[in-house]
Amino acid sequence: MSDNIIQFEIKDKKAYLEINRPKALNALNKNVLAEIKKCCDILKNNSSVHILIVSGSGDKSFVAGADIKELQELHNKNREGENFSKWGAEIFNSLEQLPQITIARIQGFALGGGLELALACDFIIASENARFSLPEVTLGLIPGFSGTQRLRKRLGTARAIEWIATAERYSASEAYTFGLINHVVKHEDLVFFTEQIADKIIKNSPLAVKTAKLVIRSGENCNFQEACDIESHQFGHLLNQAESVEGISAFIEKRPAQF
Ligand code: HXC
Repeated sequence: MSDNIIQFEIKDKKAYLEINRPKALNALNKNVLAEIKKCCDILKNNSSVHILIVSGSGDKSFVAGADIKELQELHNKNREGENFSKWGAEIFNSLEQLPQITIARIQGFALGGGLELALACDFIIASENARFSLPEVTLGLIPGFSGTQRLRKRLGTARAIEWIATAERYSASEAYTFGLINHVVKHEDLVFFTEQIADKIIKNSPLAVKTAKLVIRSGENCNFQEACDIESHQFGHLLNQAESVEGISAFIEKRPAQF
């Protein structure tokens, strides 16, 4: 990827997207956002990749937000601020809609747009040194990459309003208690632990895992009954696929399934 502001690698059914602007604490400038979009475009039709791990380079920061110097350039430019927000939100939607399971692997600061990026992933695994905040109101702004909505969905309305209105910075253990993140691990174990979770996912039927994500996420955009109907439809579809023939046969024959 251009200028190495993103390091993108595909290895053994896993893709790694690392934001690489450590001197700016991996802040998301327009070039970084455009590169994230390119990675999503590569991944969306790549069925050989089952997992995407998103990280930031260096120990100090996952991503410290949108690039504030670029935001300053948007002052009083009519609709450019709104357009920037919409453009970034569309990129994060592309990330959220990827067929792969996406994991945000977080060390250090996950602030503003950085936390919004993590929220667009399927789940978050964090080091004990991780710090989470949506501090936009300290800049006279609000989250603009759909963070108001994704944080509300994750934590509920009351906590989302408190988080955003106070701009409080939370530790990894607090974020875990609130249900923002799935795991907190010792800093030195972060990479290995994330790989272990990824490997557990990869061992399972790829089609079933992909379908499970699709069905779970479908519930975010329709009512309960519609989502359950999608679940039944997909369940039936999976029963007609080779992977469930293999999974069920393997169980009955008392051998590991080969997917
Ligand atoms: C641009 C940033 C940056 C950012 C840090 N840097 N965050 N540059 N945009 N978001 C740069 C600093 O300017 C500095 O560069 C270098 O990274 C190191 O940062 P320091 O501040 O010197 O480090 P430290 O004192 O350790 O403080 C770390 C920090 C602080 C607490 C994370 O940098 C900070 O508060 N950053 C801003 C966090 C924030 O408000 N994020 C939300 C942005 S708004 P130099 O060149 O001076 O060494 C947002 C909106 C999203 O995300 C929606 C848009 C539509």
